[in-house]
Amino acid sequence: MPPLSRGALIVIEGLDRAGKSTQHARLCQNLESQGRRVKSLRFPDRTTPIGKSIDAYLRGESQQEDHVIHLLFSANRWEAAGQIRSAIEEGFTVVIDRYHYSGIVYSAAKDKVDLSLKWARDPEIGLPRPDVCVFLDIAPEVAAKRGNFGREKYETSAMQKRVRELFYELMGTSDGLDIRVVDAGRSVEEVEQDIIERVNDVMEQPKMAKPLTAIL
Ligand code: TMP
Ligand code: MG
Repeated sequence: MPPLSRGALIVIEGLDRAGKSTQHARLCQNLESQGRRVKSLRFPDRTTPIGKSIDAYLRGESQQEDHVIHLLFSANRWEAAGQIRSAIEEGFTVVIDRYHYSGIVYSAAKDKVDLSLKWARDPEIGLPRPDVCVFLDIAPEVAAKRGNFGREKYETSAMQKRVRELFYELMGTSDGLDIRVVDAGRSVEEVEQDIIERVNDVMEQPKMAKPLTAIL
């Protein structure tokens, strides 16, 4: 494996209960066992003041206007953007559980005329652009049968179905260039293997010799 001049920015995405947290942890371990220095992040980051407002909203403890909560989710990424860039420059591989893809599709899934995919994407312009996003694809009906489904705001069948449709719509845009779809309806080990193969493949690409770019 050739040494990288910088770390990689890797994102794991998917519907609620697609297995993101499990696969995120396994991917971090697998990359570490390849000898890489890894930083693990997740969005929303519920520990910051903005993240605490998001957490209260998701748990149904507070109300937020739809555009406002959208901008708070985006602001929650912006507050970490500098830290992500520096870590990558220092050679850390940064692995994130959810990023702007979720930010765009979950808000747009509310199907408000004035909250389109484009409107939802604009505040994300300028954030560090991932080298690869692995989308863990699962049928909403299968996800709904997994433990704890239904606890938070967006965990309804109608919302998850719309979110999946919009993820596929997003894949047809420039964001789709970085997305690799993995069938998450299989065993944890099979999904894990698929993810590491796809990530390794991207880390061998010539773009890894160039600086991290931005979402445009
Ligand atoms: P989590 O289940 O990964 O903790 O994410 C919480 C919920 O927040 C999940 O339903 C997806 C949603 N979400 C957004 O609506 N916008 C965002 O920008 C992010 C990161 C998550
Ligand atoms: Mg969730």
